[in-house]
Amino acid sequence: MENEPTILNGRYKLIRRAGAGGMSTVYKAQDLSLGRLVAVKMLHETLTGDAEFLRRFQQEAHAAANLSHSNIVTVHDIGQDGHLYYIVMEYVEGKTLKELIRQQVETTGRPLPINRALELVVQICAGVGYAHRAGLVHCDVKPQNVVVTRDDRIKVTDFGIARALSQTFSGDDTVWGTPQYFSPEQAAGQAATPASDVYSIGIILFELLTGRLPFEGENPAALAIKHLREAPPPVTRYNPAVPQQLERIIGKVLSKEQAGRYRTAEQLGRILTAYQQSSREETGPVSSTRRNPAGAAGQNVAERETVFYQQQTPPRGQRREEINPEPVTVHIPVPAREGTDWTAVSLGILALLSLLGLIPLWYIIYLRYTG
Ligand SMILES: Nc1ncnc2c1ncn2[C@@H]1O[C@H](COP(=O)(O)OP(=O)(O)OP(=O)(O)O)[C@@H](O)[C@H]1O
Ligand SMILES: [Mg+2]
Repeated sequence: MENEPTILNGRYKLIRRAGAGGMSTVYKAQDLSLGRLVAVKMLHETLTGDAEFLRRFQQEAHAAANLSHSNIVTVHDIGQDGHLYYIVMEYVEGKTLKELIRQQVETTGRPLPINRALELVVQICAGVGYAHRAGLVHCDVKPQNVVVTRDDRIKVTDFGIARALSQTFSGDDTVWGTPQYFSPEQAAGQAATPASDVYSIGIILFELLTGRLPFEGENPAALAIKHLREAPPPVTRYNPAVPQQLERIIGKVLSKEQAGRYRTAEQLGRILTAYQQSSREETGPVSSTRRNPAGAAGQNVAERETVFYQQQTPPRGQRREEINPEPVTVHIPVPAREGTDWTAVSLGILALLSLLGLIPLWYIIYLRYTG
C-alpha cells in the first residue's frame, strides 16, 4: 500500500488504515464508483481460510446489510478480491466509545457525567434493539464496536460477524466474544440471545459510569468464571454520584440469569429513557439526585423505578408515555384538602335543617303518647 494504493475490484481505493482488531483491519477508503468515503473492513487471512466461516460470515453480513438504522453503521457491500475478503461500510468520522472513555478518565480523572452516559447508552440500545427486532443478535457488543461522532451520535458496528464466528467454532472449547463484555451464557459456551446483548450493554453502562470494568481477570478463562459466578460490584462503590435507582437497573441488567434481565435492548432503552425522564421531572438533572439519597425526592424516584420494573413489554412501536402511564400521579401524595368544598357544606346545612325540622314532629308524637 505504501507505493501504490490498493484498489479492491477496481472500485474501493484504500486510503489509510483506520484501525485493527482481532478479526480484521479497517481502512478508510474511497468508493470510486460513487465518489464517497467508505470504511473497508478486511478480514484477517487466518479466518478466510475456513470455508464454513466464510459461508456463515457472508450470510450474516447480508443480514447486517439489511439493517437500516441511524444508530447502526450501514453495510454497503461485501466482496472478495483474490484472497482478500472485505465488507464495505459507511465511514464514520469519530472515535470509538472505548477511546472516549479512556480519554475522559485520563483528562478529567472522572467518568462521564451520568446524563451523557445515559444518552449514549440509550442510543446503543436503539441500534441494537432495532437489530433484535429484525431477528439478529450482535453477540459482541463492546465499546470498541461503538463509534461516537463529534456531536455524540452513536453508531454500532460489526453486526453478525461475531455470530458467524460463534456458529462456526461452537462445539470446541473456544469461547467467542470479548471476555470483558460477554454474558454468562456466552462464557458457558451457549448461544447468545438478545438478553446476552443486554448484559453486554450493561457492562458498557457500568464502564461509562465508573471508568472501569466490573470484572477484571488475568485471562479470558478467569473472566469467564467471574461473569458466571461473581456478583458485580455495586456501581456506587466507584461512583457514589450514581442514584440508587440507576444502580438497581444496572444490577438487573447484569443478572446471571437471562430471565432476570430486560429481554431486548429496546426494552432496556425504554427503561433508561423513562428513568431519565422521571429523574428530570422529579429532581432536576440526573446527576444531582444522589445529593440527598434519603430525602423525599430520591424516595419518589425509587418508587417509580420499582413500577418501571413491573411493566410488561408493550406492543412494538408503543410510546413511552403508554408504557409508564403518569407515574407521578401514583406516587406523589396530594395534600389532604385544599380550599372549601361548598357543595359539601351546603348539603351538610340542608341535612342539619331537615333534622331540626323533625324536632317539632317528634315533640308532637311524644306529647300524644305521654299525654
Ligand atoms: N465504519 C467505520 N468507520 C470508521 N472507523 C471504523 C469503522 N469501523 C471500524 N472503525 C475503526 O477500526 C477499528 C478496528 O475495528 P475492528 O472491528 O476491526 O476491531 P475491534 O472492534 O477493535 O475488534 P474486533 O475485531 O474484535 O471487532 C475500530 O476500533 C475503529 O477505530
Ligand atoms: Mg469491531
